[in-house]
Order: sequence, then C-alpha cells, then structure tokens
Amino acid sequence: MNIIRVATYKDLSEKASQILLKQIKEKSNSVLGLATGGSVIGTYELLVEDHKKNKTPYNQIKTVNLDEYIGLKPNNPYSYHYFMNQYLFQHIDLLEQHTHVPKGVSDDFQNECHQYEQTIEQLGGIDLQLLGVGVNGHIGFNEPGTSFQSKTHIVDLSPSTIEVNSRFFNTIEEVPTKAITMGIQTIMNSKKIVLLASGKTKAPILKEILKGEVTENVPASVLNQHPDVTIIADEEALAN
Ligand code: F6R
Repeated sequence: MNIIRVATYKDLSEKASQILLKQIKEKSNSVLGLATGGSVIGTYELLVEDHKKNKTPYNQIKTVNLDEYIGLKPNNPYSYHYFMNQYLFQHIDLLEQHTHVPKGVSDDFQNECHQYEQTIEQLGGIDLQLLGVGVNGHIGFNEPGTSFQSKTHIVDLSPSTIEVNSRFFNTIEEVPTKAITMGIQTIMNSKKIVLLASGKTKAPILKEILKGEVTENVPASVLNQHPDVTIIADEEALAN
C-alpha cells in the first residue's frame, strides 16, 4: 500500500485530482470508478476547475459509480446520481451514455445487480477506482461482515451509516435504509485503487486498515491484498 500523507483536505483533493488527471492523460478512454460523499467533493471541484482551464477531454472516459440509495430516483436531490451530476458530470464533457450509476428504483433488483456487473465487464473493467471510507470501515456500502467475494448486491445500511449520512438529509427518517452497491470483489477487481481519508473521525478506522490485518469486520482492510492501492490521508486522519 502506498500512503500519501498530506496536511489538509485541500492538499488531499489536489493530490487525488492529480492522480486522476494522470490516469486520464495516459489513457483517454479510461474507465473510472467513482464515489460520492464529503471525501471526494474537493477532488471533483478541482477536476471541474482543470476542465474549464485546460479543457482536459472526458469525451471517451467511462464512469461507474459505487453505489446508490434504494428508493431514490436520479432526479432526487439526495440521490448519488444527483450528487454526481451536481459535482462533476454536468460540468465536464463526459457523455451521459458513458456514465453508470446503479439504479435506486427497479422492479427487479437481482437483474439490476447482475446487469451492473455485466456493464463493468463489458467496459473492460475499472482502470482506477476512487474510494472514501466509512467510520465503520465500509467501502462502497459494503458494511462490516460483507463477504470479500461479494459482487454488486443490495444491502441493509447499518445504523451507524444511517446516522453518519443523515448530515446530508433534513431528518434522519429521510435516510434510505437500503442501498445497491458494488461488492468487495467488484472493487478489488479494479486495476488501481485510490482511497481518500480526511478528518479526525476517520483516524480510528484508518489505524485499523494500516495495521495490515485483513478481516471481513473491517471491509477496507481487504485493500491490503490489492497490488496497487494508494491511500491519501490528511494529518487529522493519520493522527492516531
Ligand atoms: C459513497 C461511498 C461511501 C463513502 C463513505 C465515506 O459512494 O461509497 O463508502 O465513500 O461513506 O463518506 P464520506 O466521504 O462522506 O466521509
């Protein structure tokens, strides 16, 4: 695991955007695995800024997002699809048909999960997967105890995740209790992985991950078994 220690969230965002831009420049039709949440907002803002300034092209780039809340349509402001439009997609020349976010509304979720895996496979796999990490160690919405062999599946969100994510909603009652997420194996099949950890709330879990012990109780600990992982963490996250 390659650990990049930075001072602040701003530095973390700069480093992450540089890594993504390097990937895009080296392979203009890269498949990027994307995350939502507070950890990645600064990175997306810098990609948008770069696109405005330098016209970095995204017209051959494909994206696949990690997860979506069950029950939320793409036009729901709390959905992850909306988040992606708001922070990234609408600001760059990415083609809509090249973006993939799991569907939060479906008559047949089993089929949706299967189709999502097929989509990733047909795209030739993920070149670079960007990740945040939950305070409980989740990656995507793979909560503690999730099998390392898991593919895209439906999950019950843990009470801790519902509580932490309620900051993005008006009330905790509005937070969906289920989600669709890429599995741990789906994530591990990515060629490269970059995980961002910022702030003191992430310090205890980051310490667990960096111990090197691999356990399904700490989903992100599986990254110790991946050949090309970079963790970018700020001083607060590395404080423990
Ligand atoms: C989001 C996702 C989650 C978040 C994690 C950290 O698509 O898959 O695993 O990355 O919950 O969230 P933040 O960045 O808000 O602390």
